Amino acid sequence: SEGVFTFDPGFMSTASCESKITYIDGDKGILLHRGYPIEQLAEKSDFLEVCYLLLKGELPSAEEKAKFTGTIQAHTMVHEQLKSFLNGFRRDAHPMAIMCGMVGALSAFYHDSLDINDPMHREISAIRLIAKIPTIAAMVYKYSVGQPAMYPRNDLSYSENFLHMMFNSPAGSREISPVLARAMDRIFVLHADHEQNASTSTVRLAGSSGANPFACIAAGIAALWGPAHGGANEAVLRMLDEIGDVSNIDKFIAKAKDKDDPFKLMGFGHRVYKNFDPRAKVMKQTCDEVLGELGINDPQLELAMKLEEIALSDPYFVERNLYPNVDFYSGIILKALGIPTEMFTVIFATGRTPGWIAHWHEMISHPYKIGRPRQLYTGHTQRDYPNR
Ligand code: SDX
Repeated sequence: SEGVFTFDPGFMSTASCESKITYIDGDKGILLHRGYPIEQLAEKSDFLEVCYLLLKGELPSAEEKAKFTGTIQAHTMVHEQLKSFLNGFRRDAHPMAIMCGMVGALSAFYHDSLDINDPMHREISAIRLIAKIPTIAAMVYKYSVGQPAMYPRNDLSYSENFLHMMFNSPAGSREISPVLARAMDRIFVLHADHEQNASTSTVRLAGSSGANPFACIAAGIAALWGPAHGGANEAVLRMLDEIGDVSNIDKFIAKAKDKDDPFKLMGFGHRVYKNFDPRAKVMKQTCDEVLGELGINDPQLELAMKLEEIALSDPYFVERNLYPNVDFYSGIILKALGIPTEMFTVIFATGRTPGWIAHWHEMISHPYKIGRPRQLYTGHTQRDYPNR
C-alpha cells in the first residue's frame, strides 16, 4: 500500500526566499520595485534607471546615471566569435532557442576569468548582461530574416539603440521615432522584474550552485519560454488570430472554461494577482497611446478589448479572479513597433534581464546555501525484489 508520511511543516520553508528587490500584493494589485510603484516608474523613469534601481536599491543621481550609462555602453558589443556560434543555427529556429544558446555561450567567453566571490566580478557580470542582451536579441532577429547584424550605437539611448539594431541595416539607417523608442522603453520597464516568478526562481536556483551568471540567465530564458509564463505574449497574438472575429469569442470562452479542454485564455490569470495586474493597466494605456500616435487602427486591439469585456462579465472568470496580465496587451504594442510575433518572448527576456541579474546578485552577495526544494513522497513504501 502507499506509505503514509507525516507532513513536515518545514517543507514549505525551503521553497521560499528573502529579497528586498520587488514587492507584490496580489489581492490589491500592487507592484513595487525597491518601494517605488510600477505605475510611477513606467511614467517617470526609464529602463536604464530601473536597471540601476533594481541592482543597487536606490534611484541614481544624475552623475551616477551618466556613469552607469557609460559603463553599459562600454559593453554593448559581443565577441565577434559569437557570430560563428549564431551561424550554426537554422535560420528558421525559434528565436528563443537561439537566444537561450547565445546567452549560455557567453559563459565560454567570460567564465574562466570570473570569480563570483569578487564583488567587482559580480558587478561587471551584471553590467555585461544588461549591455549585451539587446545586442544578442537583435542579432537573433536579423539572423532569422537573413540580414547582417547591426553593431550597437552608443550615441543612442538603450531602447533607441535596440530598435536601431533591430530595424536598421548597413544599406541605410533611419532615425528611430521617439514614439517607438518611448514605447519600447516602457515595455522593458514593465517586464524588468516580478519577484519569484518561475524564471527568476530558476535563475536563483541555478545561481545557488555557484554556476556562472551567464549560464544562470540562460536557464532563466529557458524557463521563461513556456506558454504559461513568458511565452504567453506570443500565444495571446496567436489566440487572437485564431479567434479572428468578435462572433467567435463565446466559443473560445467556452473552451477556456471546459475542464476537459487544455485551452486556457492566454494573457488571463496569474498565480499571484487575484486583482488586475498593475502592469496590464499601464500596458493598455501605452497601447492606446502608441496606436493613437502612430495612427494605427488595429482590429486585434478591438478584439482584445471585447474579449476582456466578455470574460470579465463571465462568472467563471470573475469567481476565479482571472484578470488580464502583463502579456495580454503587450503583443499588440510589439506588433505596432514592427516586432514579429515569434520575437515577443525574446523582448520579454530582454526586459527581464535586470530583474534576473539583480536577484542573482542579491543572493550571491550574501552567505547562501544551495537550493534544495523538498518533496512530498507519495510513492511505494520499501518493498523487496521479487524471486523470479
Ligand atoms: C507571466 O509569476 C509571475 O510573476 C509571472 C509573470 C512575470 O512577470 O514573471 O507575471 C509573467 O507568466 C504571466 C502569466 C502569463 N500566462 C498566461 O497568460 C497563460 C494563461 N494563464 C494560465 O495558464 C494561468 O492563469 C497561469 C499559469 C498564469 C496561472 O495558473 P494557476 O496558478 O493554475 O491559476 P489559478 O490557480 O489562479 O487557477 C485558478 C482556476 C483554475 O480552475 P479551477 O481548478 O479553479 O476550476 O482558474 C483556472 C484554473 O484552471 N484558470 C484559467 C486560466 N487561468 C487560470 N482558466 C481559463 N483560462 C485561464 N487563463
